[in-house]
Amino acid sequence: MKKITIAIDGFSSTGKSTLAKQLANHLGYVYVDSGAMYRAVTLFAMQNGYIGTDFFDKQTLINSLPYIKLHFQFNPDLGFAEMYLNDVNVEKEIRTIEVSNFVSKVAEVSEVRSKLVEQQQEMGKKRGIVMDGRDIGTVVFPDAELKIFMNASPETRARRRYDELQSKGQNVTFEAILKNVEERDHIDTHRDDSPLLKADDAIEMDNSALTREEQFEVVLELVLKVTKSL
Ligand code: DC
Repeated sequence: MKKITIAIDGFSSTGKSTLAKQLANHLGYVYVDSGAMYRAVTLFAMQNGYIGTDFFDKQTLINSLPYIKLHFQFNPDLGFAEMYLNDVNVEKEIRTIEVSNFVSKVAEVSEVRSKLVEQQQEMGKKRGIVMDGRDIGTVVFPDAELKIFMNASPETRARRRYDELQSKGQNVTFEAILKNVEERDHIDTHRDDSPLLKADDAIEMDNSALTREEQFEVVLELVLKVTKSL
């Protein structure tokens, strides 16, 4: 069967990565979590003191971009590729609430976006890829054969992230997560460069009332339909 490009965009914590991983595993495609790349650049900025609660030295981060090397490495035990920053596995560090609090600021920087978009496009050259993010169907792969735009209410999304962080032993309140979700929604949809937008040809899915399995079945049907039509 011909391999296609699948772009999954949407608001934070809508279950994009869960769906993308399920599809990639089922179809034998490569899965790329583009948000992990923005998170890794944010971690780099934090580690080097370029960003903090009330400061952001944007220019120094831009000047440091050539020294930021990102790559994914498949972990067979986990069944997905983990994020490496300058050859160090940062998969755990990039998921903390601190990184979540700063990442939208870093993702607003055009120089950061162009570096990451170039790398993402390179990874998708051979098709057979599922990538999730905010601008995948609009900027990274505007010619993707299947584009999904996911949504769910802020409360549903905050609850999912809260449960996920609790299960990892991170001590956070539901209110802090909800605030973070709402703030990121605002920044992601209002930034000048590549704001979160549904591509005209994307299929919208509100999964507030769907289980993971139901959602997977719906999208898999779509993949098969598109693939057969090629
Ligand atoms: O998917 P995520 O929540 O891990 O993404 C983290 C942040 O990165 C999110 O707040 C917005 C940004 N992002 C982006 O601007 N473009 C992408 N393609 C992916 C993520």
